[in-house]
Amino acid sequence: MNTHRYIGVGLLGLTLAAHAADRHSINDGWRFQRGDPQGYSEQLQYDVRPDIKQSADGKVADARPDEAEKVQRPVEGLLKPWILASGNAFMADPSKRTPRPATDPTVSPPLLRADFNDAGWRAVTLPHDWAIEGPFLATGPYGGMGRLQTWGPAWYRKKLDIPARDKGKSIFLDIDGAMSYASVWLNGRLVGGWPYGYNSFRLDLTPYVTPGGVNQLAIRLDNPAESARWYPGAGLYRNVWLTVADPVHVAHWGAVVRTPQVSREAAQVELAVTVDNDGKDAAALEVSTQLYALGDDGKRTGAAVATLPVQRMSVAAGASATVNAAARMTNPRLWGPLPQQRPHRYVAVTTVSRNGKPIDTQETPFGIRSLRFDANEGLFVNGEKIMINGVNNHHDLGALGAAFNVRAAERQLQILQEMGANAVRMSHNPPAPELLELTDRMGILVLDEVFDSWERKKTPLDFHLIFPDWHEQDLRAMLRRDRNHPSIILWSAGNEVGEQYTGEAGAAISKRLLSIAREEDPTRPVTNAMNYAKSDFPLPATLDVISLNYQGAGIRSLPGQFPNFHQKFPDKMILSTESASALSSRGEYQFPVPGVSSAPVRPGVGGDPKRQQVSAYELFAADFGSSADRSWAAQDQNPYVAGEFVWTGFDYLGEPTPYYGARSSYSGIIDLAGFPKDRYYLYQARWRPELPLAHLLPHWTWPERVGEVTPVHLFTSGDEAELFVNGKSQGRKKKAPYEYRLRWDYVVYEPGEISVVAYKNGKEWARDSVKTAQAAAVLEAKADRSTIAADGQDLSFITVRVADANGVTAPRSDQRIRFTVEGAGELVATDNGDPTNLESFKSSERAAFNGLVLAIVRAKPGQRGAITVRASAPGLREAEVQLRSK
Ligand code: GAL
Repeated sequence: MNTHRYIGVGLLGLTLAAHAADRHSINDGWRFQRGDPQGYSEQLQYDVRPDIKQSADGKVADARPDEAEKVQRPVEGLLKPWILASGNAFMADPSKRTPRPATDPTVSPPLLRADFNDAGWRAVTLPHDWAIEGPFLATGPYGGMGRLQTWGPAWYRKKLDIPARDKGKSIFLDIDGAMSYASVWLNGRLVGGWPYGYNSFRLDLTPYVTPGGVNQLAIRLDNPAESARWYPGAGLYRNVWLTVADPVHVAHWGAVVRTPQVSREAAQVELAVTVDNDGKDAAALEVSTQLYALGDDGKRTGAAVATLPVQRMSVAAGASATVNAAARMTNPRLWGPLPQQRPHRYVAVTTVSRNGKPIDTQETPFGIRSLRFDANEGLFVNGEKIMINGVNNHHDLGALGAAFNVRAAERQLQILQEMGANAVRMSHNPPAPELLELTDRMGILVLDEVFDSWERKKTPLDFHLIFPDWHEQDLRAMLRRDRNHPSIILWSAGNEVGEQYTGEAGAAISKRLLSIAREEDPTRPVTNAMNYAKSDFPLPATLDVISLNYQGAGIRSLPGQFPNFHQKFPDKMILSTESASALSSRGEYQFPVPGVSSAPVRPGVGGDPKRQQVSAYELFAADFGSSADRSWAAQDQNPYVAGEFVWTGFDYLGEPTPYYGARSSYSGIIDLAGFPKDRYYLYQARWRPELPLAHLLPHWTWPERVGEVTPVHLFTSGDEAELFVNGKSQGRKKKAPYEYRLRWDYVVYEPGEISVVAYKNGKEWARDSVKTAQAAAVLEAKADRSTIAADGQDLSFITVRVADANGVTAPRSDQRIRFTVEGAGELVATDNGDPTNLESFKSSERAAFNGLVLAIVRAKPGQRGAITVRASAPGLREAEVQLRSK
């Protein structure tokens, strides 16, 4: 019998999303090389691409998308027909499918062959992002993709271990994500591929393998330049698996759990299982399923809580069939978001048997919860109102790039939860599957989004090139992979697509996408994030939920649009899929500070074009955006709004609005290194009102400002506060309606200490103080986790702070810090969160940015023992942390 093996993600006890059969990680032992062998590039292309006539460099994020260019299609030599065939299982209409051409493509570079000598290629372990190590590009254009080169062909090779005993089995390659235009070759033959870099896909290797023989796999990727508005990453950047199954097996993503009736007393659990018969004879089968509760660690707890009636089925040779079964569970433990609810989960364990012998098992984790989307009151989970306090995140993990890492993703979510966030929008593409395991386990709501563009283009070579051919396959692939995750509450078919501008024609495309989504998942609504379409446009009428980007608060001089949409669609829930797009650089304060609550960044007003930094008074935003304060006023004045997804939780690589010379964005509430900006506490104060919080800004080390006006702002969950400068009161202030911070605009700087006492309902609630730092004297290091697994994946994130002799942070320190790692560990990357820092993330030295530096350390695979991390800088007392790998 085949059972699942969970390899490679064991460190967090994650149960992976449903998978059938015997699945092995094949992340190890790859060889990698950039570029094509000379003379082959043209024939290895998926399709012809239009010339890039104009770079998207510096283009405003909310610019109107353009019409696609017409390209002359040459006739022969391109891989498109073979690759299109890989998507056939996701095309509902058989007549629209592309049969695999009868013959193989003629192109056959020597590197496809097993005897090709790849000893000179680089040895790599997946997940692998070849672009992240840099160097950062000195000159553009690079568009929103940022200053790391992510484009151009690249190859990965590996010999697969397929023993003779696997003869007669079905053998699949499961790629969780390959950036992008993957073509996969086995033993010299083109198996297939998948153009969209964010979707997971399966290829059937069975016809191409030689069990017991040599099986040479070669994968070509071909990321285009100007294909994204942010850093897409490059390479086999997610996990890759080999799945070996009986020819009769549960289909790929072939189990679906639904819970149509849910209450605290009882729930109806329905399971549909699709079985593929790749064998030569019809198969008579029995399908049995038991349900178990999962613990917080993702492992089964105790005996089965329910057993579904055994189903009998017969599957003809070469065909598929589906059985349905249901059970009623009493007193189910419901899944719900933290902190209001608990994310209880279950797993359906399905066994497919033939002649009494188990031939496949399938584990399908799921949660039981009910959702209601109310036009007047917002979101209800299990009957309880949940305000969506969410953020947008792109997929990069800062200094680690796009290479997926469970611990790095978990750390991001932990930092967000600590802030009070309860939701994440996967902007603007399907995430790594493990990320959804994390959101399930951690109780975080998810908006899962598939595309950033449809037929109209935002950048010259973005997804619009393949939308006509691939939208159905890509949309169905995302839904089939992700629909069992209880954390997903809403699907999004697009972000700010150009079809907002094309009237009924655009609405027709939206209708088509929504009907596809409903076929795959009738249990969740579908939306589309709109920054332009107004309430009387055709597109919004096609949506289940109205999602507005920035429009709610009002874009530039346009008035807020919440009331218009609410009036026009009295039955549709409204939310902000993107709010704020506020900008700042951690720890950078610029003067003078305007007396307004929200302003675009301008030279001398929030922005310093020379240093390419944005002031951290947290008042400034993209031209179309607003400060957090202004976004909240719009939400609070329109209380039917279900909540928001802030643009963005973390800074991300690429799209460095407003300074295109930088490497990364300024929009994060948290910087690229994972250090909270001041804004973090503004959100925490609103999202965790029960937490006694007072956070003062700016820092108080301004030798050049003695006697000058230096405004002091307070982010607090209290409603009133009194500020003191060296013990002298600067007055007690109270928040007025729709005010979210307290500010003392005329404070005159003198060195010493500022302190504040915050009150709530007249009672003391929280205090904070900031002291003037003396000369930098010491380094202090702190690890987020001191014991890590020796699996080559687990990470410790070490924050180093520059402080004076009394431990006060030296808030402007830019001293160069050197890291050394001894023992069983190694340094993976360093960062400091400075958007303008163009030093490779691999560097073991890095300047502090406003007093902080980050080092990311992992255990060497298989090495257990002590790890010593040291941080040193000339003239400062060095810091050391001890870690253990186990
Ligand atoms: C929005 C867009 C996001 C991002 C953001 C930057 O218009 O949807 O992807 O570009 O602006 O502020």
